[in-house]
Amino acid sequence: MKLSFAMRLAAVLTFVVSSGVVSGRAFQQRRLIVPGSQYVIGNSVSGHHRQPPLPISSASSEDISSVTGFIALGDSYSAGIGTGVDGKEDDCRQGLGAHSVLIASDLLAGQGGRNSTTFQFLSCTGATTQEILSSRDGSHDSQIDAFNASLPVDFALLSIGGNDLGFFDVMNACVFRFYNFYSGTCETALKNTRDQIESDEFEHRLEIIIMEILDKVRWEKKPSFTITVTGYARFFNDATDDCDEMSFGVWWRGPKLKKDLRSQMNTMVLTVNAKIRRTINTINSRFTKDKVIFIDYDKGFDGHRFCEEGVKEPDYDRKDTWFFLVGGPDNARNGTRSNHISDLQTLPPTSVLVDPLSCLEPAQASGDWGRLALCYMAMAKHQDPSLQLARGDFIAENSMWYVPTYYGKTFHPRSLGHETMRNKIYEVWQRLE
Ligand SMILES: *[C@@H]1O[C@H](CO)[C@@H](O)[C@H](O)[C@H]1NC(C)=O
Ligand SMILES: *[C@@H]1O[C@H](CO)[C@@H](O)[C@H](O)[C@H]1NC(C)=O
Ligand SMILES: *[C@@H]1O[C@H](CO)[C@@H](O)[C@H](O)[C@H]1NC(C)=O
Repeated sequence: MKLSFAMRLAAVLTFVVSSGVVSGRAFQQRRLIVPGSQYVIGNSVSGHHRQPPLPISSASSEDISSVTGFIALGDSYSAGIGTGVDGKEDDCRQGLGAHSVLIASDLLAGQGGRNSTTFQFLSCTGATTQEILSSRDGSHDSQIDAFNASLPVDFALLSIGGNDLGFFDVMNACVFRFYNFYSGTCETALKNTRDQIESDEFEHRLEIIIMEILDKVRWEKKPSFTITVTGYARFFNDATDDCDEMSFGVWWRGPKLKKDLRSQMNTMVLTVNAKIRRTINTINSRFTKDKVIFIDYDKGFDGHRFCEEGVKEPDYDRKDTWFFLVGGPDNARNGTRSNHISDLQTLPPTSVLVDPLSCLEPAQASGDWGRLALCYMAMAKHQDPSLQLARGDFIAENSMWYVPTYYGKTFHPRSLGHETMRNKIYEVWQRLE
């Protein structure tokens, strides 16, 4: 069902933003109130869900007007990197097309603008379990610290794991090779990820995060409170042959997307999902009623991955691929959100050109894939000035150096991917009763 124009007007939200930026990382607390008129969310809301189901048990679940607030925590998959910003992109690279933002819009629209929903959007690109629990250098709030439990909160959304488990290293070593010869071997990167998945460390940290969120909301007094955790989706169709000779490598003669590589990377994603699911089951077994809900939306991406039948990768025109290509456009419905501001309009002044001799440490500290990619590319080019970009013609070669999001969003869901995530969340919530 489509939202009426009046409904959309009613979904006008005010964000109260309080942000602190330390070493390139910002944590923001955004509070949505209706009505207001500073910030329009979801101007391309697909509107399938005027009355979203809720993860709240009890009779109140029928009454969405009773929802007063929720939080989103986690990494770039939660932040919605690349899905459009209104104005300047923040360091957490939160996007307007993030599934959490879509859910906030749906809630407000469903409440007909009469009620207010407080949405604390704390997700941050590059975040690891560590950053959710405590800041790396102790100088700014972790996401848990930034979570204001005095504000109303009925449920939480969480996406975490990819950065802890080395997704970037795998992308770098196996697919893009930003640091050219020095990017390490794909086998090593995959093995490191497998080792991390098998270790207890990640499981342990995820447990702590969930317990800390529950403690902070005083779950004993809030029996209906739940945490919805999303996993990841396989990146490739690994059954097709066509892709075997194609490459996403950033430098000329990059690695090919052989079936075996695609399949190994897909296995990595499935293994991570399985690990998250197992951890959640363990946590839930300690409560009489499930506190944590796992959302496996992977199958929803079938037909929408890289290397689908008949697709010549990289295919920058294919809207049906639900992951971003390097520097590729978004696929928001009618393009409203993504056209709001393009990557290139967010160019900072030239003075911040990546310095190959000093960029690595801050890039690693930020965990931001885009900053890491740019730094590795600058270092590779510094060591071998004759290196040639594989697709230097796609974009003016100079401008891309300034835009971490240009690289950082690759292999992250585009707007239609986030809609699928949201729809899967609703599907699971609907079955909760
Ligand atoms: C997108 O555009 C089509 C055709 O102009 C229109 O019918 C549809 O309502 C639009 N969708 C959204 C979500 O705005
Ligand atoms: C939401 O709106 C309904 C109907 O207008 C009202 O009964 C209810 O008290 C409101 N809830 C909140 C939290 O304001
Ligand atoms: C948390 O929210 C409450 C209620 O709006 C507000 O009074 C308080 O200042 C907030 N705390 C912080 C640290 O922002």
